[in-house]
Amino acid sequence: MSSNPLRRIGVLTGGGDCPGLNAVIRAVTKDALHHGIEVVGIEDGFLGLIENRTRPLGYEDVSEILTLGGTILGSSNRANPLRFEVAVEPDGTPLFANVIDRCMATIEAAQLDAVVVIGGDGTMTCAEPLHERGVAVVGVPKTIDNDIVGTEMTFGFQTAVATATDALDKVHTTAQSHHRALVVEVMGRNAGWLALHAGVASGSDVILLPEIPFDPKIVCDFVERRAGYGKRYTILCVSEGCFPEGGERVIRELDPGSPDPVRLGGVGRVIAKMIEDRTPVDARHVVLGHVQRGGSPVAGDRVLSTQLGHAAMELLRGGSFGRMVAVQRGRLTSVELTQPAHKQRLVDPSSEPLVRAARAVYTSFGDGRSPRANL
Ligand code: F6P
Repeated sequence: MSSNPLRRIGVLTGGGDCPGLNAVIRAVTKDALHHGIEVVGIEDGFLGLIENRTRPLGYEDVSEILTLGGTILGSSNRANPLRFEVAVEPDGTPLFANVIDRCMATIEAAQLDAVVVIGGDGTMTCAEPLHERGVAVVGVPKTIDNDIVGTEMTFGFQTAVATATDALDKVHTTAQSHHRALVVEVMGRNAGWLALHAGVASGSDVILLPEIPFDPKIVCDFVERRAGYGKRYTILCVSEGCFPEGGERVIRELDPGSPDPVRLGGVGRVIAKMIEDRTPVDARHVVLGHVQRGGSPVAGDRVLSTQLGHAAMELLRGGSFGRMVAVQRGRLTSVELTQPAHKQRLVDPSSEPLVRAARAVYTSFGDGRSPRANL
């Protein structure tokens, strides 16, 4: 037991889920209980704060959840307290309002001295006004996209890379058997980290990233000419946010009520059709989708989640609020909570060492800069 002034804290998971959330909840809760601090779980992210839905978390609640995917607390990605849908006009137009007061009321009712928010940039943005209203908040960055500003690694990413790599490995053999181009679309939103890492890990022949607009002719020529050096199949790992030079991202749907209103998806199908239209090569596409967000976290994510959860509690116990725990140069640290808000950490193709390494092993990014791209 410690003499820390914190008596009770809340914990919530916001935004899209990812493997490792439960491992963080476990680390936060066990650390808190170990120091005599009670823990309250806030259900469904910020929605639970808005609707006053909380429940106590004890040792039993967080026991045996280290390896469990998803989040035992539930999540929501349409619950932005700064712009919450409170009604719908008769013509179907949604009405939005600032409901921070409702969040403050829940925090007071539950007698929380601090709140740990586990989420992506959207969740950190939602946490900002709580911090401004004097709530002791600490953030823990999550996302399979690995695109949060201020940290070089988010938990969930390594598991998604492993899942996508496994799928890419599997399509390899069927692509070989049928002499096809196999286009595998992976998530990542506007950041290409997931496609880059899974593409390199699987030895994909072509990797298309949002940060490197591709030239359709170069991609198609590459696919067609691979046969010229004995390869009658091509594996293309494409990020959902990639687009051709001068072209647009492929949008699956728009959701104006969400902090992330643009849902990407469908570029895999477009690229497979482009290959079939422009080359004699048979092409198929696979969209990995939410499979990448599911399942048990890999060892690296379990370790990272445990470290980040513990680091968040160290900040709180040390009286350091308004910060997000982070990894920089391989070491645990923390940054201002506001740093990741409204921004994304993208791949910088001119300086990213993994892009250079991929080019060195003859991977094409569809931009004509890879050694074999113009064979
Ligand atoms: O940010 C995580 C992520 O999985 C993105 O990679 C993807 O674009 C998006 O969320 C999908 O969101 P939703 O679950 O709302 O379809």
